Amino acid sequence: MTIWVPSLECFSGPRYRAIAQSIGAAISAGELAPGERLPPQRRLADALGVTVGTVTRGYAEAEHHGWVTARVGSGTFVKQSEPRTVFDMAWQPSDDSDVIDLSLSLPPPHPLRLQAFSAALKAMSESPSAVTRVSYLDARGAEGHRERLAGWLAQLGMSLDADELLITQGGQHGISLVLSTLLRPGELMATDALTYPGAISAAQQAHLKMVGIAFDESGMCMEALEAQCARQPPRLIYVTPDQNNPTGACLSEARREQLVALARRYDSWLLEDGVQYLPAEQRGTPLYQLAPERTLFVFSTAKVLAGGLRIGVLRTPDKLLERLAAGLRAQSWMVPPLMVDIACYWIAQPEAASLLAWQTEELAARQQLVTEVLSDYTLGRSHNGSNVWLTLPEGSRAIELCERLQLEGVKVSNAEPFCVGSTPAPQAIRICIGAAADRQTLTQALNVIKQCLAQPPLATVTV
Ligand SMILES: Cc1ncc(COP(=O)(O)O)c(C=O)c1O
Repeated sequence: MTIWVPSLECFSGPRYRAIAQSIGAAISAGELAPGERLPPQRRLADALGVTVGTVTRGYAEAEHHGWVTARVGSGTFVKQSEPRTVFDMAWQPSDDSDVIDLSLSLPPPHPLRLQAFSAALKAMSESPSAVTRVSYLDARGAEGHRERLAGWLAQLGMSLDADELLITQGGQHGISLVLSTLLRPGELMATDALTYPGAISAAQQAHLKMVGIAFDESGMCMEALEAQCARQPPRLIYVTPDQNNPTGACLSEARREQLVALARRYDSWLLEDGVQYLPAEQRGTPLYQLAPERTLFVFSTAKVLAGGLRIGVLRTPDKLLERLAAGLRAQSWMVPPLMVDIACYWIAQPEAASLLAWQTEELAARQQLVTEVLSDYTLGRSHNGSNVWLTLPEGSRAIELCERLQLEGVKVSNAEPFCVGSTPAPQAIRICIGAAADRQTLTQALNVIKQCLAQPPLATVTV
């Protein structure tokens, strides 16, 4: 019987390694099939003119790479490819595992998130009401779902009526639904000069004009907004009153009153975004309470439960309900009830409250770490916020710092993605402290940031 004999010429290095590499190459080329037995070691040693020990070492090396498996008494076999389930197929492991990525605004990881998700799936598979999950429902979402979500929002200190809610596929969908349904192409949206990039792209997709209004740590400057209104009143004003993303600025109570007065005077809609969750005691009076007749409010489960759920709510004045429901129906008929069921089951469990309590404390502890490591710098943030806005010292450039940090294995954002229109980007970075795997990893990243900040700027030369 002829046996498979590799040709070792193309592989450099010691012979045993060449044998292992030739096995790997033959598997990739389909020359050796999954489950196929490799030649007995003595026969291959004779055919290659090497010692049995060399072949043994080569096989062991191939096994170490995960290409083959040795079975005592039977020989060495090419590994069977693992059966891929439909779940594995969707999963793309990150190739950036060496980088501490603090560029995305995520809630801090905790095993409870996955446990709660699995528990919801299990409970649902045993529940008899599965039929509602595969049927068409009201575009606004099932009444029972809206009531459950309204009940949960009440626990979070947001007093909203189930009848004024539409269920959306996350906060981003809520924003985009409002902009595409209520505004016509070419109409004007005003917002803080630096704002959540998803709102900028939703406005671009809806072909709106955008104007960035100056703001400070107390939020949007009302003089600047008033001047804009006098020139050209915006059809809609988009705000994140409790916590600007990226800067953490919080709109003062006085300015909330002024904002509402201006919106009434110039007949603008208000789009209030509360997705960046803060505990009730750190939030101001909601605009939907101050001006219920003109405020649309978006919230989502993303920063409290998990971003991948894609479940949010949109609160709307009564008179817009039908229009927005028609818009949602035109886009996707409705939000998949399956995902709403998962969210509704999850929020009804006591673990949801424990997770949020943990997260609130965890973020406070992480903010404290930021204070300890980066206290020499100007920082914008909320006590329990998941982002930190660090203004660079005079003479430093954010793009350069981000590049340097990336080389050191830390990823953060500069101001560019947050700039509305041609607003010049301030020299600052956003650090998403929630995204770190744990406090130790965060401390490591913060120290890298501190070291990079202390280095003198690189001299770049160009012609
Ligand atoms: C201010 C703000 N609004 C909306 C969103 C989008 O939320 P969702 O993931 O629920 O679509 C984000 C996401 O980071 C955000 O920061």
